[in-house]
Amino acid sequence: MGETKDVLILAIESSCDETAAAVVKNGREVLSNVISSQIELHKLYGGVVPEIASRKHIEKINQVIEEALEEANVTLEDIDAIGVTYGPGLVGALLVGVAEAKAIAYATAKPLIGVHHIEGHISANFIENKELEPPFICLVVSGGHTHLVCVKDYGEYEIIGRTRDDAAGEAFDKVARAIGLGYPGGPKIDKLSKEGNLNAIVFPKAHITDAPYDFSFSGVKSAVLNYINGCQMKGETFCQADIAASFQKAVTDVLVENAMRAVEEYGMKKLAIAGGVASNSSLRCAMKEACNQSKIDFYYPSPIFCTDNAAMIGVAAYYEYKKGTRHGWDLNAVPNLKLGEK
Ligand code: KG4
Ligand code: ZN
Repeated sequence: MGETKDVLILAIESSCDETAAAVVKNGREVLSNVISSQIELHKLYGGVVPEIASRKHIEKINQVIEEALEEANVTLEDIDAIGVTYGPGLVGALLVGVAEAKAIAYATAKPLIGVHHIEGHISANFIENKELEPPFICLVVSGGHTHLVCVKDYGEYEIIGRTRDDAAGEAFDKVARAIGLGYPGGPKIDKLSKEGNLNAIVFPKAHITDAPYDFSFSGVKSAVLNYINGCQMKGETFCQADIAASFQKAVTDVLVENAMRAVEEYGMKKLAIAGGVASNSSLRCAMKEACNQSKIDFYYPSPIFCTDNAAMIGVAAYYEYKKGTRHGWDLNAVPNLKLGEK
């Protein structure tokens, strides 16, 4: 038996407003993780402007990749495969990463592996939790997605619940804007909530009768807007911190309840969370407590691996590489790519 050779993946992520590249060794060790965020630029408009995002990705991508290789102390020759997010996301933004990955893979005659963005978010949990292996339940909560996923094996997923309307992060962002906190709202609501009373206002928690794992956040968002309108009509001021804390509680309660129900009914012993909203301190705290009580192992990535990054794409690409997944030069950006589609 020869010794097993290390597998190095160069990963690229450009599905939304971060231009990112990373080098990942054997699916679990991050050698570099470079992220160029466009948040400051999009703040001016209160949200991500797709055309601006694409243009910025083009400006930044080569430099970000060079930095990732340099930081990892490797050259393209050392790389075994190129992984890239090809959906879901903004089509123009995705295309920049996909075209770049194809060009590098073609020029260096290395395998090309397209990765689903959500598979990346889930895989972020493998970076710091070396002992974590499927099967487990993963709650993916980001600006664009709210999915409850049964991770049956590496690269094998069953979506057991999803949002019927807004994503959790979207609800945070919209409520933050309504109470005057600005974009992106999630981290701001998280911070301000610490000064507020989470029982000050009772906002509705949506449960969907025929689909116990699905979510709906448009109701709680409308309830916040109505509450603010009510105050304004009566000439009363409202307490931003109380609204933030009460809203955050309504959202995290439902996320925890549905996730715990899934863990129990699927007979799982492990629960992971992923995506930008997985950084939320109140969600982490509530999940930890619920898992402690039910004797479930709880996993979560550091905030840097929760928001969009390329290291998570490198991890997912590694497990796809091991399974033999290879994409051709016809790989295209798929803005509404479904998890599990090849
Ligand atoms: O995963 P991500 O970076 O991008 C998408 O794939 O969507 O998630 C971004 C979302 C934004 O909606 C942001 O407001 C939210 O994650 N977010 C948070 C926190 N940090 C980021 N939401 C609540 N609490 C946080 N601490
Ligand atoms: Zn994301």
